[in-house]
Amino acid sequence: MSDKATLEINGQKNEFAIIKGTENELAIDISSLRSASGGAITLDPGYKNTGSCESGITFLDGEKGILRYRGYSIEELAEKADFLEVAYALIFGNLPNAEQLHKFHSDIKTHSVVDDDVKKILDAFPKAAHPMGVLSSLTSALTAFNPSSVNVDSEEDMYNSVVRILGKFPILVAWTMRKKKGLPLYYGDSSLGYVENVLKMMFKQPHEEKYIQNPILVNALDKLLILHADHEQNCSTSTVRIVGSSHAGLFASLSAGISALWGPLHGGANQAVLEMLEAIKEDGGDTKKYMAKAKDKSDPFRLMGFGHRVYKNFDPRAKIIKVAADEVLGDLGIQDPILDIAKGLEQEALKDDYFVKRKLYPNVDFYSGIIYRAMGIPTEMFTVMFALGRLPGWIAQWREMRLRKEPIGRPRQLYIGETERSFIPIKKR
Ligand code: SDX
Repeated sequence: MSDKATLEINGQKNEFAIIKGTENELAIDISSLRSASGGAITLDPGYKNTGSCESGITFLDGEKGILRYRGYSIEELAEKADFLEVAYALIFGNLPNAEQLHKFHSDIKTHSVVDDDVKKILDAFPKAAHPMGVLSSLTSALTAFNPSSVNVDSEEDMYNSVVRILGKFPILVAWTMRKKKGLPLYYGDSSLGYVENVLKMMFKQPHEEKYIQNPILVNALDKLLILHADHEQNCSTSTVRIVGSSHAGLFASLSAGISALWGPLHGGANQAVLEMLEAIKEDGGDTKKYMAKAKDKSDPFRLMGFGHRVYKNFDPRAKIIKVAADEVLGDLGIQDPILDIAKGLEQEALKDDYFVKRKLYPNVDFYSGIIYRAMGIPTEMFTVMFALGRLPGWIAQWREMRLRKEPIGRPRQLYIGETERSFIPIKKR
């Protein structure tokens, strides 16, 4: 097979190198296209066919439903690893040994405090504020209290920034929820594991002498965070990369990523799925009516939690989460009709030509909210939990972009506006 691609423009042939990745994917290097073709560019709204970078962090195959972090399959990691191990592997490249993991966790604990003035910022928000807007603002505010920018060329400085944000972010997540519920704000408990600490900060009630951990919830949250930890160049990760490419700080880049994740077409879908399932339940559980709405082009309704830009087969994460939803609700003794409605929709969609032809399958957001709800997490907090899981992936991708000294992201455009014209004084218009 040739390692060159030939493009003929205006009768002139130009050759471009074809690059092969370690999983035999092919990319055409068009970095010389404009100069070679007299100014022509490619056009690809939504970047459906355009690669923004080379990356060694996450591999996914949408046709085969494969997802691997640093070569480890998502199925093995969800089954055998814990979230901090996965975070370490994503950020630093390999699973940690026992000593590295212990140091990583203790360094994170050292940073598990936030400046008390952050509480004043949190207090300024109305109770009705959406938690994703609060989280994005508090994350950006961390820069004010940690002004030193990251020297990415210093391993020590980069490591310290990583453990700093991994220590502080769960506090912001917990405080965001407790602000919504009007509960007192607690700091972390350094005697606990990472996920146990998150649960205690989120759920300890003021009257409780001691917060009793429920291993079912600990395992469920650990697995959900692993499943959300990275997903190559999705919308929010691409946002973190492009903001970081201007050499904006890590916290500022993460804050931008949180805002991108908020959208209902992206991470905000997990909240939209639950609201959709609730609406179907209120409407008598008539899934066929909503399937018809999803297929009706004149109806803006979409089957939230279905479809994916890359997966044209089952999202492997959705498969794992669906099993976990059954397990968690069973273990907690919860009968949730919402789960049955979700399964009914899935069964109908998998047999429906509209969905089959467009290869629309349940994605990561379709079942995750059912578990969060069983855990007692408010619907508006679902995407915040997605952000907590995606944090190490965003950090890993930001670090890789900076270490590879990627240029500032600045796409071109095809101008379709007015051609040159002279100014007309207002009295003549
Ligand atoms: C995440 O990129 C990632 O990796 C993201 C993510 C991650 O981990 O970071 O995996 C997390 O964001 C998952 C996706 C969550 N979003 C939703 O569940 C929202 C519902 N899904 C869609 O809006 C849609 O499927 C997207 C946004 C996910 C993907 O959109 P694309 O790739 O731009 O595809 P498209 O909108 O062009 O749809 C192709 C066709 C269209 O029909 P036709 O014009 O061909 O007739 O499929 C239809 C769409 O109308 N379609 C749907 C549909 N999704 C696509 N029709 C009904 N319901 C849906 N959910």
